[in-house]
Amino acid sequence: MGKLALITGGTRGIGAAIAQRLKQDGYRVAVTYHGNDAAAQDFTEETGIPAYKWDVADFDACEAGVRQVEADMAQAVDILVNNAGITRDAGLHKMTSRQWREVLDDDLSSCFNMSHAVIDGLRSRGWGRIVNVSSINGQKGQFGQANYAAAKAGMIGFTKALAIEAARKGVTVNAVAPGYTATEMVAKVDPTVLEGIVAQIPVGRLARSEEIAHAVAFLVHEDSGFITGSTLSINGGQYLV
Ligand code: CAA
Repeated sequence: MGKLALITGGTRGIGAAIAQRLKQDGYRVAVTYHGNDAAAQDFTEETGIPAYKWDVADFDACEAGVRQVEADMAQAVDILVNNAGITRDAGLHKMTSRQWREVLDDDLSSCFNMSHAVIDGLRSRGWGRIVNVSSINGQKGQFGQANYAAAKAGMIGFTKALAIEAARKGVTVNAVAPGYTATEMVAKVDPTVLEGIVAQIPVGRLARSEEIAHAVAFLVHEDSGFITGSTLSINGGQYLV
């Protein structure tokens, strides 16, 4: 039986591409989503990948949700991809406490909640992969994204700490930092602002979700056991770190 991968926010955008790629690579795959029932239904119909609805910002929901997936799939989760995330862009002087909290909860605390729900199992079985989907804007900052940049930078620190803790147990923990990718999230950016951003990308275009999925497939591969605590930048040369 193939290893079981669970991808949060996996019915749309980068998450959906990751789910499909891992399925193609022979893994068993399940995804979570929170808001869009219609998109989830379409995704499952098209791909045959089961989609579970819960709020990854809710610690208890993550624990219960993961146990449910494992019961339904009759297998424990081997690979976790923390991909779910939201934006609530505004300059700090206009940002509400709610906009701050929602982004920190959904993008960063979700990594704690989900990793916590799988870590005992991974440690006890001596094999696991966790990949956290950060962002170029957690590395370089971005106008109007104090909340998102803080959460995405926080994911990189989280990745490094957990990588150190889990290394001796055969569990690797890495981050990918996508640049601007052709998804619904990026489509919400003002077209003039986005034009300016694309002009700063040496490759000269947005990323395709499949290009981000390719990096995740690499990091979860059996042969990637010596890669841990790293952040793989996939940004068309926009920010060279
Ligand atoms: N750079 C420089 N100056 C900017 C600016 C920018 N990107 N955006 C706004 N300004 C300036 C405005 O020109 C304005 O200046 P004046 O007061 O002199 O007129 C001032 O800042 C205030 O502008 P606004 O009132 O429009 O600012 P705002 O608080 O309403 O929010 C914003 C502005 C809509 C957030 C805008 O800054 C923006 O679109 N930023 C980019 C956000 C972005 O890239 N989001 C990515 C979402 S996708 C994603 O996050 C995925 C991923 O991982 C990459």
